[in-house]
Amino acid sequence: MRLSGKAALVTGGGTGIGRAIALALAREGAAVAVNYSRSREAAEAVVAEIARGGGGAVALQADVAHDAEARGLVQAAVEKLGHLDILVNNAGWTQRVPHDDLEGLTEAIWDRALGVNLKGPFYCVRATVPAMRQRGGGCVINIGTVAAFTGAGSSIAYAASKAGLTTMTRSLARALAPTIRVNAVAPGYVWTGFGNWPESLKEKVQQTTPLKRVATVEDVAAAALYLATDVALTGQVIVVDGGLTTLGAGA
Ligand SMILES: NC(=O)c1ccc[n+]([C@@H]2O[C@H](COP(=O)([O-])OP(=O)(O)OC[C@H]3O[C@@H](n4cnc5c(N)ncnc54)[C@H](OP(=O)(O)O)[C@@H]3O)[C@@H](O)[C@H]2O)c1
Repeated sequence: MRLSGKAALVTGGGTGIGRAIALALAREGAAVAVNYSRSREAAEAVVAEIARGGGGAVALQADVAHDAEARGLVQAAVEKLGHLDILVNNAGWTQRVPHDDLEGLTEAIWDRALGVNLKGPFYCVRATVPAMRQRGGGCVINIGTVAAFTGAGSSIAYAASKAGLTTMTRSLARALAPTIRVNAVAPGYVWTGFGNWPESLKEKVQQTTPLKRVATVEDVAAAALYLATDVALTGQVIVVDGGLTTLGAGA
């Protein structure tokens, strides 16, 4: 097992991509703190699943958009797990607003998107750095999106917040080297329900994707797991989208 003796915190780890990452890290031997803000039952189910597999896990509530809660979350994770080596900033928030509906993009939507998707990851990293330095190293994995490159996606605010997260991945990678590695995974469409995409889009996306298959939560988790192992990578973004963003449709 590649992560024996390691401890990880996965924000938004109770559902979708975060759940798959929490399970993947646990399968490789890491103890996992599964954060949730609203989905307590889902987070506790992930903890139970990890325990059934012989691993250690704990569910921790916090809204990462608030600095004090992010600090409390990291402190609780260190107390429960003993130390912290891996932080996965997976928690994300969006509300679909057509890009040409400029008035529909309210101040509240902007604040929430920036709070959860951009400031939250920064707060969690800042809170985690002392614990990782104490261990002599660590790694951060931010879950971005291809919308950060294309400007498309569920809203202008969502794409902009994740573009900020992509840039911040590089800033933090530079600031925290050589002790802490900071990388990102940028999924394309993953059918978790996030973004509330209409059913009619699914077949179209599948057909236009060069690999003719849309990435699964397991595909994203595999990329995150790779970054969690001790590879000589920092400041990198791995795109997991069946080739759509780079190659375009109709390859
Ligand atoms: N699915 C896609 O097509 C896609 C594509 C690109 C990127 N992504 C990114 O992948 C990540 C996971 O999304 P998903 O597809 O797995 O959807 P999801 O199942 O809806 O996951 C979102 C997670 O974020 C958590 N969360 C939201 N606000 C939070 C907050 N303030 N504090 C703590 N946790 C919070 C949610 O937990 P609670 O329910 O407990 O609030 C939930 O577990 C997101 O960052 C998203 O931007 C998804």
